[in-house]
Amino acid sequence: MDQALSVQERVRGFLGREQKMLIGGQWVSAVSGKTFPTVNPATGEVLAHVPDGDAADVDKAVRAARRALEEGPWSRMTPAERSRLLYKLADKIEERATEFAQLETLDNGKTIRESANIDIPGTVEHFRYFAGWATKITGETIPVSVPGHFLNYTRREPVGVVGQIIPWNFPLLMAAWKIAPALACGNTVVLKPAEQTPLTALLLGELIQEVGFPDGVVNIVTGFGETAGAALVNHPDVDKIAFTGSTEVGRKIMQGAAGNMKRVSLELGGKSPNIIFPDADLSKAIPGAIMGIYFNQGQVCAAGSRVYVQKGVFDNVVSNMVDYSKSVRLGPGIDPQSEMGPLVSNEQFNRVMHYIERGREEGAELLCGGARPDHLSNGYFVQPTVFVATQNDLTIMREEIFGPVVVVSPFNDIEDIVKKANDTMYGLAAGVWTNDIRKAHRTAHLLKAGTVWVNCYNLIDNASPWGGFKQSGIGREMGHYALELYTEVKSVWVNLD
Ligand code: NAI
Ligand code: MG
Repeated sequence: MDQALSVQERVRGFLGREQKMLIGGQWVSAVSGKTFPTVNPATGEVLAHVPDGDAADVDKAVRAARRALEEGPWSRMTPAERSRLLYKLADKIEERATEFAQLETLDNGKTIRESANIDIPGTVEHFRYFAGWATKITGETIPVSVPGHFLNYTRREPVGVVGQIIPWNFPLLMAAWKIAPALACGNTVVLKPAEQTPLTALLLGELIQEVGFPDGVVNIVTGFGETAGAALVNHPDVDKIAFTGSTEVGRKIMQGAAGNMKRVSLELGGKSPNIIFPDADLSKAIPGAIMGIYFNQGQVCAAGSRVYVQKGVFDNVVSNMVDYSKSVRLGPGIDPQSEMGPLVSNEQFNRVMHYIERGREEGAELLCGGARPDHLSNGYFVQPTVFVATQNDLTIMREEIFGPVVVVSPFNDIEDIVKKANDTMYGLAAGVWTNDIRKAHRTAHLLKAGTVWVNCYNLIDNASPWGGFKQSGIGREMGHYALELYTEVKSVWVNLD
């Protein structure tokens, strides 16, 4: 198949032009004039060159965001006007959904089915959900007990200039998770997309300008983490950093943010257990364990990368997972026949291969996969890989792999599994498969995780909180919880005597 032919003319047009970043309503090159390439991970070919923004560009963007916050029309807009802009943006993205989906697949590698059915519609609905919130951000009246007569009430005001740093696994969707609630609450934004996948954020920037957000409300600076990202984290005029990415960088962000006491919200890594009891409906639990790890090539913070199966059904579950893994059709994401695409980058490919090697060295049993398929030698493809192991202390049981690599491990009973499942520095998500309602809830209550799925996995909804316990993060996105991340509470006292 000639892949180029299936890609819309518009996408080719977008890729063919000189890429700029969005600062203060202007499309600009980096102050340094430097650019860097972004590649198609299915082929290793360069898709486009984007500005290599650094501290100078971040500083310009923060100034623009500050001006838009303090002086511009944005600060005088009513909540209803902000809401309308967010709804319009959602409509625009929806109109151009195919273009976004193809661009996302080319830049990230994920299958077109996933970008077209999950990433882009999820983005649209996320903007709509927070468009609705813009007019519903209320305070309280508080019955205070001090002597006299007072009216005490609270207001929820924007935090201010928000720096947002996002990863490459759901590039446009993560931009939406960050930008939508920030704007609904009246903040201004400097967004730094991941260096591996900057393209859909730049297209989003175009639509943001087109629907009429005032200049400087959203600024998009492309660049690397150690330069542009760190500059944003350390900038004295940024009020808050919102970050999704690795726990390692999350730690650096907390340190950097300490300078001017920035508010910090972090969505970090995971090593989520997916637990199958013998009384589960295995016709659902097995596909659930498979989808739980292989969705998005395993590059998901909530990936169910530790599958625990109670003795008795262990062999059955493992053999089904292995059969499925061997049958997965790998190929370029842009080809609709492909069931799994490449990993995002050569670096990620090497990282995942390194973990597979460690697994073998430390004595885990490799049942299938573990290599790049011969016929896809140009891209960063890794075969779906199943390990069996019994020890919880193996590297592949403890560290986030972020690839299509699962470790299946046996357990004895509920006490045993709760101990094993919680034996991790992470606490993002967990799955429980059982038809026993008492066991389901008991386990759900004992697991230390921000989300527990019972007889399902990887479900997310704009109205339901999302975030981690322990070193999986700080704060909750989605739902009304996200409003807490993007507002300051002010208490106003009025003496009525
Ligand atoms: P990363 O955490 O380094 O990158 C995420 C974002 O942070 C990117 O925009 C990057 O430019 C930025 N960044 C990197 N260093 C920074 C710094 N010092 N200051 C400010 N911003 C910085 O993730 P990376 O290196 O792409 O992947 C490494 C591992 O992280 C993956 O293998 C995976 O385990 C985990 N990860 C987790 C994600 C999640 O959704 N929780 C998403 C991406 C990666
Ligand atoms: Mg990194």
